[in-house]
Amino acid sequence: MTDTSLFQQLLDPAHRADPYPILARLRETPVLRDESGAYIVSTFAEIRSLLKDPRISSEDLPKPRFEWTWNPIEDFILNPLRARIIARHRPFLFRDPPDHDVLRASIMHHFASERMKRLQGHIHALVEALVDGIRGRDRIDIVADFAYPLPVTVICELLGVPPADEQKFHPWSKTLAAGLEPFIRENPAYVRENLAAYEEMRAYLGALMREKRKHPKDDILSSLATYRDKRARRMSKYDAVVTAILLLVAGHETTVNLIANGMLALLRHPEHLARLRKDPGAASAIVEEVLRFDPPVQLRTRKTLAEIEIAGTRIPKGAAVVLLFGAANRDPRQFRDPDRFDPDRTDTQHLGFGGGLHYCLGAQLARIEAAEALAVLARRLEGPRLVADPPPYRPGASLRGPERLELTIAGIVS
Ligand code: HEM
Repeated sequence: MTDTSLFQQLLDPAHRADPYPILARLRETPVLRDESGAYIVSTFAEIRSLLKDPRISSEDLPKPRFEWTWNPIEDFILNPLRARIIARHRPFLFRDPPDHDVLRASIMHHFASERMKRLQGHIHALVEALVDGIRGRDRIDIVADFAYPLPVTVICELLGVPPADEQKFHPWSKTLAAGLEPFIRENPAYVRENLAAYEEMRAYLGALMREKRKHPKDDILSSLATYRDKRARRMSKYDAVVTAILLLVAGHETTVNLIANGMLALLRHPEHLARLRKDPGAASAIVEEVLRFDPPVQLRTRKTLAEIEIAGTRIPKGAAVVLLFGAANRDPRQFRDPDRFDPDRTDTQHLGFGGGLHYCLGAQLARIEAAEALAVLARRLEGPRLVADPPPYRPGASLRGPERLELTIAGIVS
């Protein structure tokens, strides 16, 4: 029988460097009722089917609870109103149809394939400039020097956020992304921090979008601020702001891990690094394999809207469900030799970007950024060596990536 505390072990930061042995044990029971009462799903076929199941909801965040201030106006009028607004206007990652579909459709064109392809040259130039910036150093940190600044610059440019303001929302974004950890919202200290970050980011973006409404530019914030649907109705200002928050946080907290996990995989498999150095065209297949082998988004949570029977287990209505993408991506029923890093594999249908109606909106952007970053790093870094293997990891179990990825290098190729 599978140990019902396995999922709790997975959440323990002590297992961050290599969670895959625990994920393999979890897969022995495709749908496991954890000791918390949540249902943990770890096999590919079951997760893929649940991602498309309308009885599964993404609206699983609890209504925010503000702390008691002993000011009756705050406690009985303003805070209940704020809590209602936050609960009704979640970002569309946490919403079901029809609201999800309407909000996603309002910005989809900004991520259209043609637009993304046009960005490729610019992204390439950004990566080259980042590498030029480390000339003369013999020790670098892939996370701080490349993996973080690249996606942040790109998403800020797309949204129309002044680059000088980026340092303001770095900590907010980190706090909001931590909210993807299972059970974290049961921690009052985290809830307090999350609400503060959310309110500050909302105030900042709200002010910026009021400015964009008056003087629109060719960017996503202007588009959200002036958006009208087919019946010429504006988007609610709350929905517009939280959509911007979603894109900023997604752009900050995920691609950084794809680049860092990718570089780590290449350094551990030098034959693929050598191949990429000779053939930059190999980057796309490498990125695809990193998304399967060591995915930046390891898990997502849902709740059931009705009773569901799956893999012989009955999940009751209203239950919490955890979808372990990281486990599904190494399911031997789906992938041949799944623990092998093999960019040449033909079975590439991974769940690194999720699936179904919440399939990642930024997938193509992330792929381009990571492919450009890995190809340029492979070509230009001379003699890269890991300072520590495994590197120190970020503490969360949901968003997986090194905190730092320090390398010594012999030099930089021009
Ligand atoms: C390596 C980078 C990335 C990874 C691994 C990743 C992964 C994912 C995953 C797994 C989901 C599905 C979540 C779920 O089913 O609950 C998702 C959704 C989403 N991603 Fe990404 N993402 C990445 C980069 C980006 C970027 C750069 C953006 C945009 C700027 C972005 C925007 C979004 C949005 C808006 C959603 C919500 C889609 C919806 O609910 O319809 N992502 N992402």
